[in-house]
Amino acid sequence: TGFTTLDQGFVNTASTRSSITYIDGDAGILRYRGYAIEDVAQNSTYLEVAWLLIYGQLPTPSELAEFDERVRRHTLLHEDLKRFFSALPHTAHPMSVLSSAVSALSTYYEDSLDPHNPEMVELSTIRLLAKLPVIAAYAHKKSLGQAFLYPDNSLSFVENFLKLNFGNLAEIYEVNPVLVKALDRLLILHEDHEQNASTSTVRLVGSTEANMFASISAGINALYGPLHGGANEAVLKMLKEINDSGEGVQRFVERVKNKEDGIRLMGFGHRVYKSFDPRAKLVKESADEVLEALGVQDPLLDIAKELEQVALADEYFIERKLYPNVDFYTGIIYKAMGFPTRMFTVLFAIGRLPGWIAHWREMNEDPRTKIGRPQQLYVGEPAREWPAAR
Ligand code: CMC
Repeated sequence: TGFTTLDQGFVNTASTRSSITYIDGDAGILRYRGYAIEDVAQNSTYLEVAWLLIYGQLPTPSELAEFDERVRRHTLLHEDLKRFFSALPHTAHPMSVLSSAVSALSTYYEDSLDPHNPEMVELSTIRLLAKLPVIAAYAHKKSLGQAFLYPDNSLSFVENFLKLNFGNLAEIYEVNPVLVKALDRLLILHEDHEQNASTSTVRLVGSTEANMFASISAGINALYGPLHGGANEAVLKMLKEINDSGEGVQRFVERVKNKEDGIRLMGFGHRVYKSFDPRAKLVKESADEVLEALGVQDPLLDIAKELEQVALADEYFIERKLYPNVDFYTGIIYKAMGFPTRMFTVLFAIGRLPGWIAHWREMNEDPRTKIGRPQQLYVGEPAREWPAAR
């Protein structure tokens, strides 16, 4: 129509109203439901933040205890769904396994798909929160060719997840409290980030009145890409390449600036943050704490710090307002915890799940919601005559 404006990549166009997360990209501010991310990360837990994002307020102790209990009661996967994993190759990327299995959840839980029934929406919420970490751990175990463990519901959310990933059928697994605290914090930092590509995808799919499992499976696929959640995996690959090739940080940065083969400094830059990413600051603190507590010396951490220093002092990055983002240091921590590189984006997905659910529900409950249907500017051929002879 004559009124269509082009906004490639949605740089200026708001697609919705939302009261979940506030970001001021120039000032480096991030708030969940009004609370500063620094306070949330310091004082809360993954499930408490999930409640805050989904229901809008901090839970009372009894509300939180009841929520925690409900999530624990839904962790089991149907035995048939466990067998679904054996149809996939062990070389499969765990993000593909994750999105496929979440999509498959809607085949098992047809009793909770109706977006117009608040009880069903509630049940899907609990099922997803409980089962995504189990699916993620099975994707990990599958890639190693190891047996799947049953969830141990006497453990907390994060303890259970670590045990499912690193426990072994034959041994008693002691969960390391340093890892529990650090992982809880990292998951909290990922829980929501307003209209990023995956959350916008969840809302767009949900706007068609598709069920929550289908919408979130689509969000997982959007997160997979290296410019979004896949960046944490790409950062580690980049650091490893710099380390293995011995080319040095300076030379690598030169190649980025010259846009050689289109390479980018992964874990740097953000569409919204133009002074710093407040999450990156908190993650960097965690990286130092975790590596020290575990007694891990990782040359990749030194390379990351040098890269950060060189880039922050360089005109190219200053001019373009490129700073480390949340993904820059997370991979180093996940590696120290024992996760393989291909699991990094899966951890991001578990972190982001409460945000996706909160946005899906906000979209679903808002009577102003309309099916998402962007316009385009047609730049193709004008009307043509079909050729008489060919
Ligand atoms: N390394 C080198 N140059 C960069 C980078 C980078 N990481 N990011 C942006 N630029 C340059 C880009 O080449 C362009 O320069 P020029 O004007 O000369 O063409 C300028 O900065 C603006 O870039 P853009 O691509 O228009 O910016 P955008 O807002 O569309 O992209 C971004 C944001 C996050 C996709 C981008 O900064 C990027 O590709 N970063 C690396 C991938 C990454 O770390 N992603 C994680 C983002 S945070 C967590 C998440 O969302 O998952």
